[in-house]
Amino acid sequence: MSALLAIDQGTTSTRAIVFDRNGAKLASAQRELPQHFPQPGYVEHDADRIWTDTLACARDALRASGLGAQQIAAIGITNQRETTVIWDRASGRPIHHAIVWQDRRTSAFCQQHADRSDWINRKTGLILDPYFSATKIAWLLDHVPGARARAERGELAFGTIDSWLLWKLTGGARHATDATNASRTALFNVTTQDWDEELLAFFGVPRSLLPEVLDCAADFGRTEPTLFGAPIAIGGIAGDQQAATIGQACFAPGMIKSTYGTGCFMVLNTGATLTLSKNRLLSTIAYRLGGQPTYALEGSIFVAGAAVQWLRDAVHLIKAAGETENLAKSIDDTQGVYLVPAFTGLGAPYWDPQARGAIFGLTRDTGIAHIVRAALESVCYQTRDLLQAMAQDAVAPTELRVDGGMVVNDWLTQCLADVLQIPVVRPHTVETTALGAAFLAGLQAGMYASLDDIARLWQADRRFTPKMDAARADALYAGWRDAVMRVRST
Ligand code: G3P
Repeated sequence: MSALLAIDQGTTSTRAIVFDRNGAKLASAQRELPQHFPQPGYVEHDADRIWTDTLACARDALRASGLGAQQIAAIGITNQRETTVIWDRASGRPIHHAIVWQDRRTSAFCQQHADRSDWINRKTGLILDPYFSATKIAWLLDHVPGARARAERGELAFGTIDSWLLWKLTGGARHATDATNASRTALFNVTTQDWDEELLAFFGVPRSLLPEVLDCAADFGRTEPTLFGAPIAIGGIAGDQQAATIGQACFAPGMIKSTYGTGCFMVLNTGATLTLSKNRLLSTIAYRLGGQPTYALEGSIFVAGAAVQWLRDAVHLIKAAGETENLAKSIDDTQGVYLVPAFTGLGAPYWDPQARGAIFGLTRDTGIAHIVRAALESVCYQTRDLLQAMAQDAVAPTELRVDGGMVVNDWLTQCLADVLQIPVVRPHTVETTALGAAFLAGLQAGMYASLDDIARLWQADRRFTPKMDAARADALYAGWRDAVMRVRST
């Protein structure tokens, strides 16, 4: 058994990648996932489509690798976190579309109970925000006819996407999740490492809905034999940002990575102790192995790659994401144009679900290049927002490891180094999310003896050092802060 199969179910696409034991990619397959926006602020996915895409990608990647199920040592699953699915245990059918992490429909509840945010923070490391699964579960139970009664009778199951896929992959045999995904629900006590009865009562979520919580490398069962011709062990699960932290080998306290997918998520390893943020960052579980949690501080930005998607799909300023690099390079600066992509509110460190996006500083000379460049720069400024908060909560990072689809853009990655004023390192494999899931599966399968074995496989591709002087970076960033203040609702 020579290879590992990673399933990476993200917000906008589903991917499957076959890796060899050294972390080299052997084959992959990908499908775009349609987004559903039934009302302003609502974002939904079809959970059945997520499953059929996942199965198709896994089969395609296996076929393209030329390997059979018997040659796969284990499967690792990583996923968009917080997105909430409730399904019927008997039929395996979802009772509603999945409510996506970006969805803001429960913001009124969160505002109404804002005084409970510190209490929730102490138990979960999170804050009270529509981002997390708990209020989404309650919304489904209250709005799908009969759902609450069925949940109380034990007929329904809740899962984040990992859990939903695990259920489907095992033919309904396993209803489980891992500690990282559990830590994003706002129902899991990150100190006791168990579902928290007081939180369940507060959000009105029956315990019978919830999956069993295992380590990130664990025996999650085997795939139903007919799916791939032979059963394959499922050995790893982690939320996508935590998987990227593993794929980036950020195993020592103080190591930090930032992943640029639909959103941008910065994760700082804080070691064996839970560090609560004073700057509105989240405390979360980076990974749990051998029953021992390793904690992290996380900064979550809702729109990064999604800003480029918006340029392409909503306002048609570009035809393909790849055009942004040359457009940004074609001008010296944005001439004072700032784009604040608060399309679904603002995440860390502002946490303002009512804020909305805006473009400032338009003149008669403003063209497509300025707006495109402003969109890319917004990703860098938001990263600086997070880095500053991290520095105030823990230690000032001296180097940032980056990954995700956006960092293949050299201009953007240099811009990050300039705006942050620290070196930014891009690894050889930018698909670190999938790689992290494969590493977890490999740990469980015995392919790697320890995290040190994994750390030895990490390789830098390019190190970007700041070229802009600090005063200019500070001045540009001050303009960003001013623009953000103008879109805030409070
Ligand atoms: O918390 C949401 C996050 O897990 C989504 O990640 O890669 O789909 O933007 P991504």
